[in-house]
Amino acid sequence: MSNKADKPPWGIVEAKFFAAAQRYEQVPPQLGAELAFAGRSNVGKSSLLNALMSRKRLVRTSSTPGCTRQINFFQARARDGAEFRLIDLPGYGYAKRSKTERNQWAQLVEAYLTQRDVLRTVAVLVDARRGVGDVDQQLIEFVESRKLPAQVILVATKIDRIQKSKRKAALAKLKVATKGHLVAVSASNGDGIEQLWRTLRRAASVAPL
Ligand code: GTP
Ligand code: MG
Repeated sequence: MSNKADKPPWGIVEAKFFAAAQRYEQVPPQLGAELAFAGRSNVGKSSLLNALMSRKRLVRTSSTPGCTRQINFFQARARDGAEFRLIDLPGYGYAKRSKTERNQWAQLVEAYLTQRDVLRTVAVLVDARRGVGDVDQQLIEFVESRKLPAQVILVATKIDRIQKSKRKAALAKLKVATKGHLVAVSASNGDGIEQLWRTLRRAASVAPL
């Protein structure tokens, strides 16, 4: 017998990949609310998208950094009917990339972040154990200072890797990096996923829960 808690209204019931872009011209038309996920290579962006969409392998993940090399667009529908586009941005800070490739990434991501009216939130992911690095901080400030329509949500990933007794201190350190929201998650065991969905939906002004 399934109980009601197994079927939360924010739970994703349908999810699919719908576009990829290596250049800004390939970015699809603006059709509805977009929630983008950015962060260093290997921080867990693609894994988090799978967890948010309740899918195991819709988004390709890898223990080798530099796995996602383009912007990937996914469409998802929640049980209560709300629809979102979840955007997996390529990771930054991967030293083995050529300078040309890093410049291309920066241009593509900057164009995406500044030209997308439907972009509601930018989740900036940082590894809970590593904290906010210079490039993460620059990205947060870029989105916050440009008065872009999108809100920043700082997401601390891989929280399962920090002992419970040490989590509060680790999160307090991260909190100073943003004026906005901070949510800690684990894609491995699902911790924080409900809270992140609630925060994303509130920030995106989609039917508050
Ligand atoms: P790029 O595509 O290279 O930018 O990386 P990414 O940010 O998409 O990272 P990805 O999701 O591919 O995960 C990188 C590695 O971290 C993989 O080995 C994952 O299994 C691992 N990982 C991701 N999320 C978690 C988590 O919540 N907990 C733990 N313990 N490991 C995780
Ligand atoms: Mg990835």
